[in-house]
Amino acid sequence: MKPVIAMDGPAGSGKGTIAKKLASHFNFAYLDTGMLYRAIAHLGIEVGKIEELSAAEILKTAREIPMSVLKSDIVGLKASKIAKSPEIREVMTRLQRDFVVCPGDNHRGSVLDGRDIGTVVIPDAVCKIFVTASPEIRATRRFRSLKRNNDQITYAEVLESLIARDKQDQSREIAPLTLNDAYVVLDTSKETVRESFLRAIKIVENSLKSVEP
Ligand code: DC
Repeated sequence: MKPVIAMDGPAGSGKGTIAKKLASHFNFAYLDTGMLYRAIAHLGIEVGKIEELSAAEILKTAREIPMSVLKSDIVGLKASKIAKSPEIREVMTRLQRDFVVCPGDNHRGSVLDGRDIGTVVIPDAVCKIFVTASPEIRATRRFRSLKRNNDQITYAEVLESLIARDKQDQSREIAPLTLNDAYVVLDTSKETVRESFLRAIKIVENSLKSVEP
């Protein structure tokens, strides 16, 4: 299997932004697993149907939904709710594993970001990064981004919804968001995106030394 970089962390930590930049920097395929959960939650796709789909097919269907809807807090909370289901997690895990087996001939490996990539989906990922930031900083970032599409939204609402989602994602019985010793922690609270990205590059380069000559 080609090397996998697992990026886990809470909502608004910046993991998606950094994961995407890392994938392009290292020429790895990128999979936003949160987007898969958001798409099936929003579209109400049943477990039986998910079994027939690939990650690429779900993402293709998701492209028909406006990004402002998919990325909204309402859909985020819905995704977090359905993500508690053992049946859904089982099929989602399978399709994420299929993705890393075939990331494409022109890709050196894959980068996946989510909540349980390094703990459950790909436990032998060559590099595991736990991206985090304080709840207030994460809420500020999300508030700024959500405000572009919804000028009624308040910071207090965003913070409340983020804390509710953190709690749901960390306390569920199956595959909760958990930090263990295998992860390198990347706290982005006091950094620009570029600073976090440069630190992440070093972490990945270091891990890849063990698998690539
Ligand atoms: O990364 P995100 O905020 O777009 O994810 C939306 C929700 O999907 C998240 O709150 C919980 C769920 N999720 C999950 O349970 N496991 C993943 N690997 C990714 C997302």
